[in-house]
Amino acid sequence: MSVLIVVESLFGNTMAVARAVATGLAGRGTEVTVLRCTDAPTDIPADVSLLLAGAPTHNSHLPSRSSRAQAAGKGAAQGDAPGLAEWIATLTPRRDLRVVTFDTTVGGAFAGSAAKAAAKLLRRRGFATPEQGPGFVVCGTPGPLRDGEEERARAWGEGLLSGVEAR
Ligand SMILES: Cc1cc2nc3c(=O)[nH]c(=O)nc-3n(C[C@H](O)[C@H](O)[C@H](O)COP(=O)(O)O)c2cc1C
Repeated sequence: MSVLIVVESLFGNTMAVARAVATGLAGRGTEVTVLRCTDAPTDIPADVSLLLAGAPTHNSHLPSRSSRAQAAGKGAAQGDAPGLAEWIATLTPRRDLRVVTFDTTVGGAFAGSAAKAAAKLLRRRGFATPEQGPGFVVCGTPGPLRDGEEERARAWGEGLLSGVEAR
């Protein structure tokens, strides 16, 4: 089996989480590929049996064109590239595929999250039961990740295929 991790990341924090999750999965002998949304296929290869989709939370949702522009105004690279929402809209659904979302956030009591929104979009797109995974906390808009979050992401990756959830 192999795992595909598709990521949107404006400042690099969600990508750092994805790489840590990949390290955790690879430690269990799983083949893992991490791709940005702009490089990800719209037909998920047949050998992929777990798809992880991650993005930063913007305005309690997935990033949009305007929120990306705001991020670019704060120093993010490639603020105008299409992101996770646009990629999901082009995806060919595979009902047999396990799909889990994750996100990054500044923490706090926000009602919505990118992981929640992505799971909803994936369900609407035709994926059977997308699971909303954890949020990983950054220190302010540009990051970095809060201390311990990369380790938590790696541990989540290690446990993903054995049903162990992130704390
Ligand atoms: C326009 C904009 C809106 C944001 N809105 C939220 C929000 O609603 N909730 C939150 O927790 N973080 C919010 N953030 C902070 C992002 O979650 C943070 O920048 C992101 O996790 C960094 O990940 P990245 O480096 O992968 O882009 C916002 C950031 C931007 C630029």
